[in-house]
Amino acid sequence: MKAGRSSSLRLLLLACCACGAAGYPFRPPPDLDVTPRVTVLSSSLHGCRRFRSSVVNYSAMLLEAEGEQRLYVGARGAVFALDASDISTASALTIEWEASPEQKRQCLLKGKDNKTECFNHIRFLQRFNSTHLYMCGTHAFSPMCAYIDAERFVMSSPEEGRDKCPYGPKTGYTGIIVDQEMYTASQYEFRSFPDIRRNSPSPTLKTEDAPTRWLNEASFVGSALVRESLSSSSSAGDDDKIYYFFTEGSLEQTGTSTHGRVARVARICKGDRGGRLTLQKRWTSFLKARMTCSLPEYDFHFNELRSVFVMAGDTPRDTLFYGVFGLGWKNIKASALCRFSLSDVQEAFQGPYMENQDSNWKEYTGKIPDLRPGTVSVHSLTHALFASFKYVGHEKLS
Ligand SMILES: *[C@@H]1O[C@H](CO)[C@@H](O)[C@H](O)[C@H]1NC(C)=O
Ligand SMILES: *[C@@H]1O[C@H](CO)[C@@H](O)[C@H](O)[C@H]1NC(C)=O
Ligand SMILES: *[C@@H]1O[C@H](CO)[C@@H](O)[C@H](O)[C@H]1NC(C)=O
Repeated sequence: MKAGRSSSLRLLLLACCACGAAGYPFRPPPDLDVTPRVTVLSSSLHGCRRFRSSVVNYSAMLLEAEGEQRLYVGARGAVFALDASDISTASALTIEWEASPEQKRQCLLKGKDNKTECFNHIRFLQRFNSTHLYMCGTHAFSPMCAYIDAERFVMSSPEEGRDKCPYGPKTGYTGIIVDQEMYTASQYEFRSFPDIRRNSPSPTLKTEDAPTRWLNEASFVGSALVRESLSSSSSAGDDDKIYYFFTEGSLEQTGTSTHGRVARVARICKGDRGGRLTLQKRWTSFLKARMTCSLPEYDFHFNELRSVFVMAGDTPRDTLFYGVFGLGWKNIKASALCRFSLSDVQEAFQGPYMENQDSNWKEYTGKIPDLRPGTVSVHSLTHALFASFKYVGHEKLS
């Protein structure tokens, strides 16, 4: 324990030196206790099991702890099924799925990088039903999806994936399958606007690009289903929700925020079937709010959401969201971990909201309609900043 502590202090000092050398004096405030509660060094991981293959770019993981205890791993041109109780055993099953030489040639002709982009990077890998998994890959800049028979671990029915999977390996992306319906969020093609969509059943529902743009250069990092209908507290018409986590350009004008990038949480109702007269094929339940992770007394604002972990509680109401946030400034490598409870998020969505005036978002000061935005129709965004966040610690990344 003692060794762990001193090494974490070294980590912090390194962070200071690196920044100081570059001429940016970033130092953790002296009175801020950033000592981690537990530190585990990789050298102290005895009995650590490894899986190795010649494949690179591991990009998707799916752990199924029940039944056969498998860890599925997607990579560049391959998917593996490992024994979760010991991933180093030689029993790994493999599906090789790479784009053909002709498809790679087409990719190169499109001006893409044949050392990184012109491969099939598996971006999506999830359970579809009791017998099959579903996966999607970038497939040399021409995405494809396919089923996997989990028992035999063979691929079947490859199909077009352009609507479900981004074209490149690094594009911000998140996707989940809920009750055999696939929900994804990304900027699929370079020229398209980012959106949050449900791909099936038809018609596809999406966020809107015009006349009002609901998302602004959003880069997605995660999404999660919360079965709020199971909570006894759910008010009338409440439904299971899907939450999305991302960073995007801010268009709102408020006292403090400038037009930089901000971290966001958005949500849609799973039962949403789109509008009838207005908002046809659009979500009628879309709302978004800013996630603040900052140390206001030191003027540190961690606006770049890099990753999110959703921790299920005893009941859906006890769900917690942990986010890894970075500073938006390129030259300073510092990050923070903030925790948000589902009720913080719900409170923000119940709070005051903004309206679009001349392509700027301003706080809405009129009477709030009886049917709140987010229940039926949307021309609004919540803007309430989260009142409570918990600062856990920060460290140098990478
Ligand atoms: C894939 O791995 C190679 C070799 O490790 C690395 O150079 C490349 O940047 C990786 N590509 C992506 C998209 O992560
Ligand atoms: C990528 O394409 C260039 C031609 O533009 C070729 O010389 C090179 O060998 C290719 N590299 C790979 C890894 O295919
Ligand atoms: C699961 O989905 C696959 C692909 O649609 C289908 O072939 C299979 O029969 C389904 N399994 C069950 C148990 O419904």
